[in-house]
Amino acid sequence: MNEMRKYNPESDSEHVKRIWLECGWLEPDKESTMDLFLKGQDVWVTDINNEAECLVISSPGSMQYLDESLSMACITGVTTSRIARKQGLAGNMTANVIANAADDGAAVCTLGMFEQGYYNQMGFGTGGYEHFISFDPTQLKINRKTGIPRRLSSKDASLIHESRLNRKLNHGYCNLFPENITDAEMQWGDNTFGLGFIDEKTGKLIHHFCCTAKNVESGPYNIWWMVYHNDEEFLDLLALIKSLGDQVRLVRLKEPRGLQFQDLLNTPFSYRMITEKSPFEHRNKAVAYWQIRICDLEKCISAFSSEYGQLQFNLKLYDPIQKYIGDNQGWNGLTGDYIISLGKSSNCKMGVDNTLPCLETNVNAFSRLWLGTVPASGLRLTEKFKCDDTLLKSLDSIFCLPEPTPDWDF
Ligand SMILES: CC(C)(COP(=O)(O)OP(=O)(O)OC[C@H]1O[C@@H](n2cnc3c(N)ncnc32)[C@H](O)[C@@H]1OP(=O)(O)O)[C@@H](O)C(=O)NCCC(=O)NCCS
Repeated sequence: MNEMRKYNPESDSEHVKRIWLECGWLEPDKESTMDLFLKGQDVWVTDINNEAECLVISSPGSMQYLDESLSMACITGVTTSRIARKQGLAGNMTANVIANAADDGAAVCTLGMFEQGYYNQMGFGTGGYEHFISFDPTQLKINRKTGIPRRLSSKDASLIHESRLNRKLNHGYCNLFPENITDAEMQWGDNTFGLGFIDEKTGKLIHHFCCTAKNVESGPYNIWWMVYHNDEEFLDLLALIKSLGDQVRLVRLKEPRGLQFQDLLNTPFSYRMITEKSPFEHRNKAVAYWQIRICDLEKCISAFSSEYGQLQFNLKLYDPIQKYIGDNQGWNGLTGDYIISLGKSSNCKMGVDNTLPCLETNVNAFSRLWLGTVPASGLRLTEKFKCDDTLLKSLDSIFCLPEPTPDWDF
């Protein structure tokens, strides 16, 4: 197996672009945007005949877990060229990039999956459903006037990125640190623009949204992200979206956590029937496409806190990533026996206490339980997840967390 190595922009740029062109990830006129996207990230390649044929990219970042911020590595790209498929390159590289990130202190690792199953081999478990809501902006039940917003484009990437990082953070929200990621995201899409409000005193961008539109005249407009800190700012953004409704027939957005967007729409069922199969179809599409794995169990358990109970149990954990990195000198997965103590403050230590009940599972399922994606009783049905009914009931009650979402597309 060829060794992976760090990407060198001088000599590898042409070859990694060929990989993305072959995967259909890059349009020929967007090649400089790929250079921008790679800058500031941790980029690795593997060669065949001295040319990069597999590319794995990881971004430093953070994830909000209840009231704590955990350090995160986000795998933002895994691609293998046409001549190098099914040689084990992508799997081995991804596993080793995760191991490096864990060595550097990442408590969790996240990614967007192309299909269920592949990254499960590296210990990932599927995150929560995201709801993509499509609606006619005139049907928003908002009656509100806002001030005049500021136009935003990729020229404002710095301002926009700062605003994204400083948004109100809910459980599961992720931040990707390199500013170039926001800049590149503004440049990938069709006719990307944003609207937002600046604080006159500080000059900082406060609340805003960014969206793309293939058909600028009548939509659909796809809102990539919304940034706000409180209810008033959120309602301002909805009022702005509604103000486009004399022209734009459909807007798509990801439902923010903590509310049912349908409540903000007039007669949603009627519109869904009337618009069925039209390019401007009203719908609510649910997809679970992001995944997470715990890399540092101690940090992740310490971030957990519950006012409502205490629980101690043995955790017999299996980590499938070990088959890729078994002989790694540093971090090599989480397989082992742990004693977990959960309560107002929580901790975990290696060992077994024979007086305690036992949960036997893999890091995939445990990551989902810990984040609050699926309760223990659901995991026992669909995953490798073994424990008695009493422990199951206790796990269901204590892991009663807000629904997690990254609120950042990757
Ligand atoms: C996905 C991709 C990166 C895999 O690259 P690769 O170097 O061929 O991957 P590997 O050799 O490590 O793994 C391939 C193996 O995984 C298996 N596999 C693929 N999808 C799987 C799934 N959903 N579940 C389980 N196994 C899966 C394949 O069957 C293959 O097994 P085999 O060799 O026994 O037949 C490559 O196909 C690609 O670049 N696709 C286009 C871009 C893309 O979608 N990237 C992923 C972004 S999240």
